Amino acid sequence: MALALPRYIELREKAQFDGLAGKSVLVLGAGLGFEGLVMALREYNAHAVYLTDLPSVLPTMRQNIEMNGASLVADRVHAHVLEWGEAGWAKWQREGLPTEFDLVIGCEIVYCEEALEDLKYTLQQIVPPNNSRGTVLYMAFESRYFSCLQFIRELALLPALAEDEVDPPRSSPYYSVESIADFDACGAEDAYIFRIVATGVAQR
Ligand SMILES: C[S@@+](CC[C@H](N)C(=O)[O-])C[C@H]1O[C@@H](n2cnc3c(N)ncnc32)[C@H](O)[C@@H]1O
Repeated sequence: MALALPRYIELREKAQFDGLAGKSVLVLGAGLGFEGLVMALREYNAHAVYLTDLPSVLPTMRQNIEMNGASLVADRVHAHVLEWGEAGWAKWQREGLPTEFDLVIGCEIVYCEEALEDLKYTLQQIVPPNNSRGTVLYMAFESRYFSCLQFIRELALLPALAEDEVDPPRSSPYYSVESIADFDACGAEDAYIFRIVATGVAQR
């Protein structure tokens, strides 16, 4: 998924805009960082890619950047700690790191139920409902035992559904939510991709 998602995003964004060229990208829970490294390669040419994860992951991520892309993308890829939740976001701001992006990517980060509240907090700081920059958020994940779809509903400030209702989340007055049905390049069964954009209405 981490390798197929950038290709999908490039094609999808090119259909309406200029693809990834010149864009600033934040990757949450980047792990080894493949999805971000791919986006920074010449073929896609993102202007700046911020790969983020927990402190314990950063050394391996940096090593992977070094091994796989440093010579190609070094000036455009940045690796930093960003721990989801209020404290992690406050630290990020204190460090003077960018808080606005053209694209935010969450690939396989809806996987740990205990972390979802913190993840939601961070996502709603980066893509607030009144986001005027038009930041596009892509969330991609395989279906898991708990309700990943419910997470997207809550993120988009949609009303909760009963447990047995599994419809993909729809748009709310605050966020435009597009459920991508034609993505099969990752070969994963039950993979979901959502493209989420704030609609400019302030959070009540
Ligand atoms: C399943 S991995 C996905 C890695 C990569 N995005 C991919 O698709 O290959 C989930 C990542 O989220 C990170 N993560 C988990 N909890 C986190 C938290 N509270 N704050 C920041 N990152 C977190 C993990 O360290 C891990 O690298």
